[in-house]
Amino acid sequence: MKELINKLKVPSTSSLVLYYASSIYDTNLEKEFMNRFDFGNIEEFVKQMSDSYPNLDKILLFRKLYVRKILKRIYKEKSYPQVLSLGAGWDPLSLHLVEQYSSQVQDVFEVDLAAMVEKEALLKRILPDCDFLHFMEGDVTDPEKLITSLALSGYKSAVPTVVIFEGLIHYITDGVFRSILKHFKTPDKRNVFILDFILSDESVSSASLKQHQKCIQVVSKYVEGEINMYTRLEMIAVIEELGGEVFSIESMRDIELEVDQKNKLFPEDGDGVQEVLAFYL
Ligand SMILES: C[S@@+](CC[C@H](N)C(=O)[O-])C[C@H]1O[C@@H](n2cnc3c(N)ncnc32)[C@H](O)[C@@H]1O
Repeated sequence: MKELINKLKVPSTSSLVLYYASSIYDTNLEKEFMNRFDFGNIEEFVKQMSDSYPNLDKILLFRKLYVRKILKRIYKEKSYPQVLSLGAGWDPLSLHLVEQYSSQVQDVFEVDLAAMVEKEALLKRILPDCDFLHFMEGDVTDPEKLITSLALSGYKSAVPTVVIFEGLIHYITDGVFRSILKHFKTPDKRNVFILDFILSDESVSSASLKQHQKCIQVVSKYVEGEINMYTRLEMIAVIEELGGEVFSIESMRDIELEVDQKNKLFPEDGDGVQEVLAFYL
């Protein structure tokens, strides 16, 4: 029997990511989460996305694998006691953190415009002893207010933090993105950001451009205003301008090669709509 979730409040883009990336959720806790999740309201959206971009499942899967790879890399080097997931949606990343990094992670803060109350209820059933998880409904476009609300939930700016910024940047403007970075910037670059961004047309090969634009068109329906897109160089420039230091950036081509030892779906950089990166801030 599926968990009853307030379907109206569930962000459909987040359910879509969960649906497509489901193969990555393979631990007991994650499997339990997936078993209790109701995907019933996203069939039409899944169909639209699959028609417009057949490889979307791989892109979302590769993006999630990248986040996990970076977590593994940074936690090998040092501890980041706080994890903050902005635009967390239904991603059960907290369960992955519990299973892999419980000795290094003290607090996880999940923020989204909606569905955090339902997500908290669901996670508490799977993991009754989860006081270290903090769920907040909040808007990242007002970083001042966001930081104040986070502090009230126990977030400490002085503590090294991993900020997961996944599937979010295209919902906000470049100005808001810069403002968020300014608010989380530290003098000793003690925070790590992991994020993905959608490539602007000029980054995409002529062979893939039509399909890229079709995919953007469908995503646009779920984003208010213009979709925020970058070339790789523009993204690096924004981060460096704000004092960040990029230590990893990968195309879908890079990840496919790493995962499958060959490039079949994404033969060129620029294929696969997105790139992913990680930086100290
Ligand atoms: C594509 S989903 C990604 C979910 C999750 N991060 C993942 O990658 O699996 C985007 C999420 O960002 C949230 N979101 C969009 N705009 C937001 C805002 N201004 N403040 C907070 N969350 C936002 C949406 O509600 C949605 O849950």
